[in-house]
Amino acid sequence: MSSSPQDILVHTEAGVTTITFNRADKKNSLTEAMYATMADALAQAESDAAVRCVVFQGDLAIFSAGNDINDFLRQSAGGAASDDASRPVWRFLETLAAFPKPIVAAVCGPAVGIGTTMLLHCDLVYAGDNAAFSLPFVNLGLCPEAASSLLLPQMLGYHRAAEALMLGEPFLAEAALEVGLVNRVVPPSECNLVAQTQAKKLAAKPLSALIETKRLLKAGQATQVRERMREEGASFARLMGGPAAREAFSAFMQKRHPDFSQC
Ligand code: COA
Repeated sequence: MSSSPQDILVHTEAGVTTITFNRADKKNSLTEAMYATMADALAQAESDAAVRCVVFQGDLAIFSAGNDINDFLRQSAGGAASDDASRPVWRFLETLAAFPKPIVAAVCGPAVGIGTTMLLHCDLVYAGDNAAFSLPFVNLGLCPEAASSLLLPQMLGYHRAAEALMLGEPFLAEAALEVGLVNRVVPPSECNLVAQTQAKKLAAKPLSALIETKRLLKAGQATQVRERMREEGASFARLMGGPAAREAFSAFMQKRHPDFSQC
């Protein structure tokens, strides 16, 4: 795993904390260290009264290729217990899902796996017209995470959610707009700017009213989301050690098609 402290950039200005994926050579795939940095940044943004909004962004060509598959391969080969709630990925997801202040995302290029599921926990999502969302968990011998097995059917309807989660094929920005996963589609060169503009508007509003509005919007299912995340986490951990996942991770690293005929 090649991971550097610069893989996630955190910058706070005028009440907005911007978290930037900055690992373009590995398509902004997310390592354990990066999840830890993001979970810490969110915790800091939550406790800092001067921060009123958070923005997630990648670059113009890639939002995130999802979890680092080298990390998956290591864990699959017997590393950390994957459903341990203290693990950075679960800490990041739980912090994100429970984050009380508004979150805005700017998505250009591919948003794979957690690159898409994390958007279910953002409040405003702006997409470049080159955005491509995909949930290839099954193709990796895994199952959904981030409560996406609960939230996606609610958003897309059962059959479209099943198609997205079982086939794992990318869907494009216009389709994401149609189902309400994104608020607006813009040219990629404008996407980060649009997200920042909206974040600044939010930062100028009364924070207590925003926090209460977000809480009420989500209150009906905060507990359900947390419980589903835990249930998914246990299944994910079990599948991670299985033959299908090991074959999928090895095939990706060896740049070949996986052979699931024995799985
Ligand atoms: N984990 C680790 N490395 C990754 C990665 C990931 N999730 N995604 C991409 N990379 C690495 C590639 O191995 C490659 O490394 P190399 O230059 O050392 O060979 C580099 O990033 C460029 O990736 P490449 O596949 O050549 O880029 P692309 O533009 O052709 O395709 C993606 C971009 C995102 C569509 C493609 O990389 C992809 O599908 N990645 C895997 C996504 C995935 O399954 N994630 C897990 C979700 S749960």
